[in-house]
Amino acid sequence: MRYNPDHCKRLKQIVEPLLLWYRKDHRQLPWRDNPSPYRVWVSEIMLQQTRVEAVKPYFERFLRELPTIEDLAECPEEKLLKLWEGLGYYSRVRNMQKCAQQVVSLYQGQFPADESLLKKLPGIGDYTAGAVASIAFDLPVPAVDGNVLRVLTRVLSCDEDITLPKTKETFRQLLLEVEPSPGAGDFNQSLMELGAMVCLPNGAPQCLVCPLSSLCQAHLEGKELFFPVKPPKKERKIQERTLFLFDCQIGTQQEKYTLLHQREAKGVLAGMWEFPAEESALSKAQADCAAHKLCSLMGLDFEGVSPEKPSRHIFTHIEWKMSAWQVRAFAKTLPQNLPDGFLLIPASQIGDTEQSNIALPSAFKAYRKRFVSSF
Ligand code: ADE
Repeated sequence: MRYNPDHCKRLKQIVEPLLLWYRKDHRQLPWRDNPSPYRVWVSEIMLQQTRVEAVKPYFERFLRELPTIEDLAECPEEKLLKLWEGLGYYSRVRNMQKCAQQVVSLYQGQFPADESLLKKLPGIGDYTAGAVASIAFDLPVPAVDGNVLRVLTRVLSCDEDITLPKTKETFRQLLLEVEPSPGAGDFNQSLMELGAMVCLPNGAPQCLVCPLSSLCQAHLEGKELFFPVKPPKKERKIQERTLFLFDCQIGTQQEKYTLLHQREAKGVLAGMWEFPAEESALSKAQADCAAHKLCSLMGLDFEGVSPEKPSRHIFTHIEWKMSAWQVRAFAKTLPQNLPDGFLLIPASQIGDTEQSNIALPSAFKAYRKRFVSSF
């Protein structure tokens, strides 16, 4: 998509009505009270790939536990992952900590009020830099995400593929000329808010209550459902996995123990804890054999396996199709020297997230509950 001065003229017309609409009526969201750079940044990272309603409690707890950027810079990784447990895409929070450490060391703990310096920090791309610069510092720079692209392609009746970087870049250029100053932060948020509340995706735009309906080319042509244009989604790759859910009796202890394994440092759920698994679907005989081997490696006596309910988890590009086996095992005392990357923990720590320091990804949510009553 090429820059077009007529588009610029038309976008300038939406600024006032959008600002009026936003200032009259917008959602009270926790990060909109006291929009400090730290709070805006945390919220924007959490809001990537996660719904507003789901983010709210995470945001409140994160800010309660780590009220300053120095607190985040110094936070032990285990605690950090625990605060993020269930939000997914854990590289986001690891990058956040690197970013916090740089802001502390390079800028005395104050985010720079400069879009290009913000972009140099870990985990901060065009969108996040624009959002922090405009919402926290009211600098006249754009923040273009999926919501904003949907609104703008409808307003301009633009049929360019929104997944192409050059489409996003052209909209950034256009908005750069349109951003009000002062008021850029409110304007960018009004675009996001309109995308989230009125100019809805999946065939549900609420044009009757839209402050831009008389300025929206797609609406005037009756074509709002044709936009935004994007190529069909690629099919997700399905990966079969077999999980082993250990119920391990230690001596005469009442509570069972279960075995966890730490994933490798790269790839899906990098470095996170999971139930030990094989990367294929196993028959009962194969599961029995694999569980037996695992027990020997851990110094546990093997008793047997029984099937558990299968489950699925969908990531962005892959889907895990999981079958699972209960593994019954025992030992006189808790084995002390497990191989690297393995951990035996009391089962209730899996069942009750509050009790445990270990973050278990949502991919295994279906199996959490079964550990609650094993005490
Ligand atoms: N989505 C992304 N950023 C947002 C924000 N600041 N407010 C509401 N929804 C958002």
